[in-house]
Amino acid sequence: MLTTHPSLAPDGAPFTVLTLTNAQGMRISLMDWGATWLSCEVPMGDGQMRETLLGCHSPQDYLRQTAYLGATVGRYANRIAFSQLTQRSHTIKLVPNQGEHQLHGGANGPDRRRWAIVARDEQSVTFSLRSPDGDNGFPGNLAVKVTYTLTNEGRVEIRYVADVDRLCPVNFTNHAYFNLDDNSTDCLDHRLFINAESFLPVDREGIPNAALTPVSIGGMDFRQPKRVGQDLLSDDGQRCVGGYDHAYLLSEHCRDGQSPAATLWSSDERVMMNVYTSKPALQFYSGNFLAGTPSRDGGEYGRFAGLALESEFLPDSPNHPEWPQPDCWLTPGDTYHSMTAYQFTVLK
Ligand code: BGC
Repeated sequence: MLTTHPSLAPDGAPFTVLTLTNAQGMRISLMDWGATWLSCEVPMGDGQMRETLLGCHSPQDYLRQTAYLGATVGRYANRIAFSQLTQRSHTIKLVPNQGEHQLHGGANGPDRRRWAIVARDEQSVTFSLRSPDGDNGFPGNLAVKVTYTLTNEGRVEIRYVADVDRLCPVNFTNHAYFNLDDNSTDCLDHRLFINAESFLPVDREGIPNAALTPVSIGGMDFRQPKRVGQDLLSDDGQRCVGGYDHAYLLSEHCRDGQSPAATLWSSDERVMMNVYTSKPALQFYSGNFLAGTPSRDGGEYGRFAGLALESEFLPDSPNHPEWPQPDCWLTPGDTYHSMTAYQFTVLK
């Protein structure tokens, strides 16, 4: 279903909202502004629907939040230190938007653009965007498409395809925040598993400042499922960024998209969400700075209201060819492909 929202986006045209429904009655909605994932309602089997995603009350509210709720983020999700790319001793300056650094592709990136709807049916929609040469400092013209598919198995699949006409790092993700408790309380009693042996320590600006480190340090280990709140803020590495806000390098066997990169359970254990991805890393962000973000009921979210599991290359990868992951630079003539799926299961 496609609806034109009466309010206008910054380009003067109305927002377009689409709803996809599967055979079990699960519903997701999306909008063309930022190719944003707005809502994800799961049928609980007792006639009730449970909202599992954080979102705003109206499309207009998305314009006044800085948390990237559900947005498509690129060209390079996460941070690039000092907004600088180095390639074969050649330096490219990007446009900073977090002090001297660039975060999530810069200000007014793809998350704040109108995407075209180029294909759709009951259970799938494809958005496309053209980003011109020099956009936020990135080299080359880039064309990107993102397809959201809701399967009858309760899986929300997000696939990205992109190409460029100059060498450019490309790292698209979706910045969904999950709360599997119907947004009724914060996410600290959710249980989380992350399929990773190592993570990247960061400084207080979120810039990697050490080598990949075993997760057994501090409270970082999620190899056995544990409550998000259990070891929250229990070490200096977390305290300097207000909680979890770290990239985990996923175990290599996750990359075929068959083994879960992460699993999240609601606090009542009735909803389980498996994350699958072809990306090498997952940023676990516990919503440390969500306070004040406009919420779905028209109020405001608090700190830790939801958590993000962003599939990505490691932050600042263009400047770290030594890290053990595929190359994040896309060459003209090659095509960027990436897939992340969030699979929802209702447990009895
Ligand atoms: C970052 C956080 C940031 C949030 C919203 C996350 O991906 O790691 O530091 O606050 O996005 O921008």
